[in-house]
Amino acid sequence: MKLAVVGATGLVGTEMLNVLAQRDFPFDELLPVASARSVGKTIEFKGKAYPIISMEDAIAAQPDVAIFSAGGSTSLEYAPKFAEVGTFVVDNSSAWRMNPANKLVVPEINARVLTEEDKIIANPNCSTIQMVVALAPLHQKYQVKRVVVSTYQSVTGSGKAAVDQLMNERSEQEGDKVYPHPIDMNVLPHIDVFFDNGYTKEEMKMVNETKKIFGDDSIQVTATAVRVPAVGGHSEAVNVEFAQDFDLDEVRELLANTPGVVVQDDVKNNVYPMPIWAHQKDEVFVGRLRRDETQPNTLNMWVVSDNLRKGAATNAVQIAEYLVENNLIKSAVMG
Ligand code: A2P
Repeated sequence: MKLAVVGATGLVGTEMLNVLAQRDFPFDELLPVASARSVGKTIEFKGKAYPIISMEDAIAAQPDVAIFSAGGSTSLEYAPKFAEVGTFVVDNSSAWRMNPANKLVVPEINARVLTEEDKIIANPNCSTIQMVVALAPLHQKYQVKRVVVSTYQSVTGSGKAAVDQLMNERSEQEGDKVYPHPIDMNVLPHIDVFFDNGYTKEEMKMVNETKKIFGDDSIQVTATAVRVPAVGGHSEAVNVEFAQDFDLDEVRELLANTPGVVVQDDVKNNVYPMPIWAHQKDEVFVGRLRRDETQPNTLNMWVVSDNLRKGAATNAVQIAEYLVENNLIKSAVMG
């Protein structure tokens, strides 16, 4: 079992390596890949140094799995080249997500759609993943009709340079800017590019990816995606209207019994999900559960998760684990 981590020096890539180590993902050979700038340097994994190699050398090594987090254009160019040599690519960028030929997978919800033909598998957008993980058990029971979501997204979603911008501004240092405005002491209602309909690409990802993951085009989603000066994870205020009525205690119980979901909902003691608690955890945290009193069958909830973990690295590694556990990778031997 040869495993390539493409973008191994980036924020998500680094988290991929942490998650692989923590979950003891079974492999014989690790191939960390980054840009030409980093080739020849080393990264550490479980106390051992590994040389960073180029994309070309990684393709020549014909890995069984390549987990990609190196941006959309890199992925568009190189994922097919890995697929051609038989590698399963799990891609964290948006490049393949809405392509009808590529599966978009949150393992808890729809991993069963995967077959050995699926050589380029898309990891959904971070904001979408945490929302659908919280919605899934409720959708099964009450049928989601419409979702109104506002996000409060961590700067880690824009990569290392964005964290640097926040920290530079905080310490009044000069430095490169990733955002068109200051992010410290500010809030930007602008994530990714604007479309002609006035929405951003991030907002439309939440709309379209939710339908694809649930395999249900009738689910209506409208989103406002906002960048905030936080680092531990993304937060979301989710208003969801169901086809059927619900009981709030049952909602709480359904969520509490869902693997990968943690209910933090004890407002008397000021307990609710927050990025500082979600940071470096794999779960999706849900709280502030309450009825929307203005409309029947409608729930309000607050959903927080570390966007680099379940929103990216953890979900990608779980997809790779599914491939191994279900014998979709022929050469892999599960420990
Ligand atoms: P490098 O560190 O050599 O630039 P982030 O999103 O945190 O900025 O990380 C992006 C990741 O993608 C980094 O590991 C970066 O490597 C990698 N990367 C960017 N462009 C390429 C490329 N053309 N080929 C391989 N890796 C790339």
